[in-house]
Amino acid sequence: MTPAADAAHELNFPDGFTWGVATAAHQIEGGNVNNDWWAWEHDPTSGTLEPSGDACDSFHRWREDIGLVADMGLSAYRFSLEWSRIEPAEGEFSVAALEHYRRMCAACHGHGITPVVTFHHFTTPLWLAQRGGWESPDAPECFARFVTRATAYLGDLVGWACTINEPNVVSVMGYFQGQYPPGVKEDFARYGAVNEAMVRAHRLAVEVLRAGPGDFPVGFTVSMAEIVANEGGEALRDAAEEMLENVFLRATEGDDFVGVQCYTRMHFGPDGLAPNDPSVRLTQMGDEYWPQAVEHTVRRAAAVSGRPVVVTENGIATADDSERIAFVTEALHSAHRCLAEGIDLRGYFVWSLLDNFEWHLGYGPKFGLVAVAPGTFERRPKPSAHWFGEVARANRVVTAGS
Ligand code: BGC
Repeated sequence: MTPAADAAHELNFPDGFTWGVATAAHQIEGGNVNNDWWAWEHDPTSGTLEPSGDACDSFHRWREDIGLVADMGLSAYRFSLEWSRIEPAEGEFSVAALEHYRRMCAACHGHGITPVVTFHHFTTPLWLAQRGGWESPDAPECFARFVTRATAYLGDLVGWACTINEPNVVSVMGYFQGQYPPGVKEDFARYGAVNEAMVRAHRLAVEVLRAGPGDFPVGFTVSMAEIVANEGGEALRDAAEEMLENVFLRATEGDDFVGVQCYTRMHFGPDGLAPNDPSVRLTQMGDEYWPQAVEHTVRRAAAVSGRPVVVTENGIATADDSERIAFVTEALHSAHRCLAEGIDLRGYFVWSLLDNFEWHLGYGPKFGLVAVAPGTFERRPKPSAHWFGEVARANRVVTAGS
């Protein structure tokens, strides 16, 4: 082994690169009883493994959560507004709920953290869900009205805005795989209609957000995977990329950034989605352990959208925290290769700050940098939290040479 190969390897990130962690209201707040997910979790036919219940009690413990982000030395915290708390009945807005999120934004600023606010992260208020959710003809206008009221109240404190989180997951899981509400399976027409509604909602929301108050970057966050073709699967791979991702990537025209959220690799064969590569180990989600998906997805998002890119979510579900450190290290190498190519990549957010409610899979998968003790809600930062904080503070990843 030569001394050069033995030396520690350093990857420096550009000045001003944003380091953050992400969460979502329904996954951490607890007691979000007034949205479609709560109803879905309590429907015995939904297949959801357990209800969200108190989650991480972050609705009350948000100060502690923002303190954890500050202790890590991160520059940004991405969290979402719970629409059903802010507009519990159609047209009725809760000043108390708006004030809650305003305090969160203010606390972030107090710690020098940029609040990255997501306006819709999978959950829809029950009043809208009951009359068709995203299929309701005026759903985009309802969303725009909510964004208008929320922005009027706290826009001056927003750091960056993400309109809708992963519209493609809402539609695929809700209208194709049937694992998210409303639990519809393989209905292409409804799936397509919901995609269109969410693109329209995004465009309306961008207009509202740009009108202020506040002046902050606005973007769309898209779930992406490294989608590869097995022999004969090229046409379906291209179709999948088009339908699942490009439709939304192209809808970002004029936006300030596109958020890439990637976790793994998927395969397409001549008959459609093909099994994982058996030689690649799996995460707790049953996904291929494929941190280098960051490189492929960031490159593709930049090429298709022409926008600056932020990795607004990346991470791994694992009970082994050293595996998380290895995964994020590899993901950051992969992100760095994009920077070296000249791609305008502006930041990287780990999913997630806390172990939390992983939707239909309940509390099994562990994505957090911080564990949450069941029953007491005590937060216990894992070694990965300390490690990621060091990376962020140094703006550099150091890996031992081999
Ligand atoms: C979502 C999160 C989810 C994560 C891990 C993303 O699809 O935005 O809500 O917990 O992936 O599965």
